[in-house]
Amino acid sequence: MDFWQFCQKGRLQECGCDQRATWSPPPSILITVSESQVYEAIGVGYSVGRRPEPRWHQEIDSVIGDARRVINIGAGTGSYEPSDRAVIAVEPSELMVSQRPNTAAPVVMAVAENVPIVSGWADLTMTLLSLHHWTDWRTGVSEMRRLAPRRLVLTYDPEILSSFWLLRDYLAEVAASEQKRTPKIEDIADALGGDVEVIVLEVPWDCVDGVLGAHWRRPAAYLDPQVRACCSGLAQADQRGVERAVRELAVDLDTGAWHRRNRELVGMDSFDAGFRLVVSSEI
Ligand SMILES: C[S@@+](CC[C@H](N)C(=O)[O-])C[C@H]1O[C@@H](n2cnc3c(N)ncnc32)[C@H](O)[C@@H]1O
Repeated sequence: MDFWQFCQKGRLQECGCDQRATWSPPPSILITVSESQVYEAIGVGYSVGRRPEPRWHQEIDSVIGDARRVINIGAGTGSYEPSDRAVIAVEPSELMVSQRPNTAAPVVMAVAENVPIVSGWADLTMTLLSLHHWTDWRTGVSEMRRLAPRRLVLTYDPEILSSFWLLRDYLAEVAASEQKRTPKIEDIADALGGDVEVIVLEVPWDCVDGVLGAHWRRPAAYLDPQVRACCSGLAQADQRGVERAVRELAVDLDTGAWHRRNRELVGMDSFDAGFRLVVSSEI
C-alpha cells in the first residue's frame, strides 16, 4: 500500500478524519532543495502582502471543480488551496512553509522538477504563480502530467505584463527580465498536453494579492518598499534601478504626469495585466 493512502492518524484516507490537521511527511521523503532558495530570501512577510484575492479564488475553485485529491506545487503559504478535500502541498522554501496556517494541508518539501509522490493519487495538480521560478519548468510540467490527469497553471503572459505602465514607463529592465524568465502561455499549454483552455484573470482595482500588477490603479502603493518586497519581479531586480524608478514615479505623481499619461485607468474596475489560468485535461 502506498504511503499517501494514510492520514495523520495512520489510518486510510477514507477513515473520515480531518486530512488538514497538522501532519508532516516522514524524513525519508524530504529531499534537497538547494536549487530553489529564492523565497528563503524574499518570502519574508509574504502571508501579509500576498493574501488570496477572493475573485481569483472563486475562478480557481470552479476549475478545481469536483477533483477529490489535489497536489499544489509551489504551494507557498497556501493561498488558493482548497480546504474541503484532500490536498498535498509541495514547497521547497522553509520560510514559506513556516507562514502556512496550522490548518493548511500537509507539505512535502520538494521541488516541482522532482515530486516524491506516486502517480495515480491525485485527480488534479495545480501550480499557482510558481512556474516562472522553476529551474526547469518543462521537467516540472512533465511531473504534473505524471501526477494527475487534470492540470491547472496560474501564470502570466510576459509580453502583456511588460506593457503594464510600471514596467513600460519606469522599469524596462524588469520588463526584459520578465520576458526572459517566464515561458509563453502557448508553450505552457503545449507542454501540459490534453485539451487546454486558457482563462483570462483580470486584476480587480482593489486586488489583495500583491502580485506585480496588483496596484495598477493605486500607483502610490509602489512607493512602499513592503509592497515592492512582496513581488519577486521587483524584489529580485537590481535595487538601484528600482529606487530610481520609484523616485521618477513619485515626481510624476506629484506633477500629475502619471495621471495625464494613464487617465483611461481611472474609470476601470479591472485590468488585464496578463494573468492566465491554463487548464488542461486528459479526460
Ligand atoms: C509567488 S510564490 C507563489 C506561492 C503560492 N502558490 C501563491 O499563489 O501564493 C512562488 C512559490 O514557488 C516556490 N518555488 C520556487 N521554485 C520552485 C520549484 N523549483 N519547485 C516548486 N516550487 C518552487 C517558491 O518557494 C514560492 O513559494
